[in-house]
Amino acid sequence: MYLITSTREIKALPRGHRRVGLVPTMGYLHDGHASLIRRARAENDLVVVSVFVNPMQFGPSEDLARYPRDLERDTRIAEAAGAEVLFVPDATEMYPAGFASRLEVAGPALPLEGARRPGHFAGVATVVAKLFHLVRPNRAYFGEKDWQQLQVVRRLVEDLNFDLEVVGCPTQREASGLALSSRNTYLTEEQRQEASVLYRSLRAAQAAYRSGERQPQAIVAAGKALLAAAPLELEYLQLVGPDLEDLEQTGELGDPRQARLLLAARMFGVRLIDNAPLVQE
Ligand code: PAJ
Repeated sequence: MYLITSTREIKALPRGHRRVGLVPTMGYLHDGHASLIRRARAENDLVVVSVFVNPMQFGPSEDLARYPRDLERDTRIAEAAGAEVLFVPDATEMYPAGFASRLEVAGPALPLEGARRPGHFAGVATVVAKLFHLVRPNRAYFGEKDWQQLQVVRRLVEDLNFDLEVVGCPTQREASGLALSSRNTYLTEEQRQEASVLYRSLRAAQAAYRSGERQPQAIVAAGKALLAAAPLELEYLQLVGPDLEDLEQTGELGDPRQARLLLAARMFGVRLIDNAPLVQE
């Protein structure tokens, strides 16, 4: 395993004719990240994992300072999953003195997370574009866990003509259904069990559709019913179409296979997000 910390070195990485897979992360790796790395391992000749807690995508009142970090553990997990190169720049390496550029993103970056975390997707897009230029991957791997981020990255690659394939990978969950997340470490075991109500609410909305409900409002209400008694502040639970348009607003379900349930909630002081297709295969 090669540990690279400088942009100069990662740019000079010898690649020959090897196909390069990139897995961008903020570290504190778990089996969700590992599933991306394993997929990259299977589809490429060289796998680069980046670990960088990107200050540009955190708001002033968010958890940048307390975001969990453990490079030794990350190295072990990344290596076991098949990574050859770990790129771990520090903030001054990515944003040296005088840095003054930031991508402006709209479209899929505007609603939902974009409305609640101003500047978040601009920060994601900027760091992802930098990583693409530095690593020049043939494929880049992103989780469906962050569904809206995946749409923003797909848009970015298309709009800025990056010559790479974006591969979306399914969400990995605990047995309880709770989506794996580095932020779950803020929760106790008991709180994690309680937090599985988020996924159960998505399942309840799916079940309403399966039992014949076709009104977006009623489908969403079936999901929200489960959350009403839970110890959480719901930020949103929305049923959206392929362009992240709110189907409760349009009142039309459209193609149900393109519809997706997205939610964000604050539980025990931690902001959690999850999502699922309306029609589960
Ligand atoms: P991070 O939250 O570390 O996630 C890195 C990648 O792992 C993302 O593509 C995310 O969707 C994926 N991931 C996280 N949890 C997952 C799970 N339970 N199942 C499957 N995939 C999962 O997302 C970021 O970092 C950053 O915004 C980044 C893209 C690295 C830019 O800074």
